[in-house]
Amino acid sequence: MGIEDAYEIRTFPASGPSGPRRDESAAWLHAVVSGFYEKPLTDAALERALASNAADGRLYTGVYPRGPVPAGAPGPDVPVATFGTLRKQLNVGSGRSVEAQLVTAVTVRASHRRQGLLRRMMVEDLRRGREDGVAVAALTASEGTIYRRFGFGVATSEREVTVDVGERFRLLHRPAGSVEAAVPAELGPIARDVFARVQSTTAGSIDRQERYYRAAAGELGEDGAEDTALRAALHYDDDGTPDGYVTYAFKGWGHEPETMEVRDLVAATPDTYLGLWGFLGSLDLVKEVRWGNAPAEDPLVWALEDPRCVRTRAEGDMLWLRILDVEAALRARRYGADGGLVLEIQDSLELAADRWRIDVSEGDAVVTPTGEEADLVLDASALASMYLGGVSPVLLARSGRVREIVPGAAERALRMFASAGPVHCLTHF
Ligand SMILES: CC(C)(COP(=O)(O)OP(=O)(O)OC[C@H]1O[C@@H](n2cnc3c(N)ncnc32)[C@H](O)[C@@H]1OP(=O)(O)O)[C@@H](O)C(=O)NCCC(=O)NCCS
Repeated sequence: MGIEDAYEIRTFPASGPSGPRRDESAAWLHAVVSGFYEKPLTDAALERALASNAADGRLYTGVYPRGPVPAGAPGPDVPVATFGTLRKQLNVGSGRSVEAQLVTAVTVRASHRRQGLLRRMMVEDLRRGREDGVAVAALTASEGTIYRRFGFGVATSEREVTVDVGERFRLLHRPAGSVEAAVPAELGPIARDVFARVQSTTAGSIDRQERYYRAAAGELGEDGAEDTALRAALHYDDDGTPDGYVTYAFKGWGHEPETMEVRDLVAATPDTYLGLWGFLGSLDLVKEVRWGNAPAEDPLVWALEDPRCVRTRAEGDMLWLRILDVEAALRARRYGADGGLVLEIQDSLELAADRWRIDVSEGDAVVTPTGEEADLVLDASALASMYLGGVSPVLLARSGRVREIVPGAAERALRMFASAGPVHCLTHF
């Protein structure tokens, strides 16, 4: 029996608590939570999730069993597979952005796995994005082995760090501006303004979903309930304008060493970033500060008298991209060096496959299909990794992911695709 015979696949807009498809949306959210083996949502958490997902304009795809379900199984209104999308801006460097199709909430019920349901939802969704003129798709992955086959490649990384904030923690210079402890409930509008500045200046940054602002205000903790443990601090520039914030929570007196956990740290300038770390480093009674979303290249390490205060507990992929429209995506960004390059892109989904000539003049590219010999041969996933300049084409060539046909072409690509600033994404989805 084929997928069509066994299931109905429906795509519909997320409804809020009083929206027209509220019950369908609620059943879909319950299926997502169950797919990630989490505890069922409480009524209050469900209402919050319904509201914030509707505010993001999400599209839900659900796969529903046709015909009667076996006794004891969830009812036919509960999808056996879920797939969510929303569209947000992705900063592609030099202050430029493209619309990105964000893929999220991908689950297939354990008893329905490996029948091709993910493949079916993914391929349909990527084609829909392409037809709508969206140049890039993006996701964050639960496992590293799932998404390369669909043309996604790792474009940014992040680190989980532990920072020793005892005696050894001293910054080498005093950053400009000042820091004040803040009331999380007052943070909402400021968090939006500050993130908007980060979004406009950081390659790899993805505009945030509604839930981030609710979380910063303490309205939405990790378990979906109010986060009464949340503390906050604001950084102000020399004119007194807020330009960054940190939210954090104490791990409790039973936890040794005494540790403060950073929930969110958003800084519009390098001074802001170091100023907020200076504040975290000054908290009495605290020995360590932990943060799970530190950048791969962290200025804090270089700003400290003792760089060994910063220890990396884990490091891994964060943002995965998928180029849906090569011409639109490559034209959208600026380049670090002028020059020409022919890329042969292999793509089993046929969205990016072709030989492409990129001619860069004064930082802007003209991109055209060509019959010329290729300089580099690579798959769609490697192209996605190179795209923002966060992953070196030379490294990809050394790993066998990029085949260099013309000697020196990977180095040429490195100079052209280089990003002037950091490439980092602070938005999980
Ligand atoms: C990951 C998950 C969504 C896969 O769904 P599925 O319907 O079983 O996947 P499909 O049958 O469509 O498989 C598609 C392809 O991916 C491969 N694949 C699926 N899950 C995989 C995994 N966990 N690791 C490696 N490969 C995987 C399949 O082998 C298949 O390969 P092929 O088409 O190239 O032969 C499902 O296992 C799941 O819900 N896992 C728990 C939640 C989760 O991790 N979600 C992902 C969030 S980012």
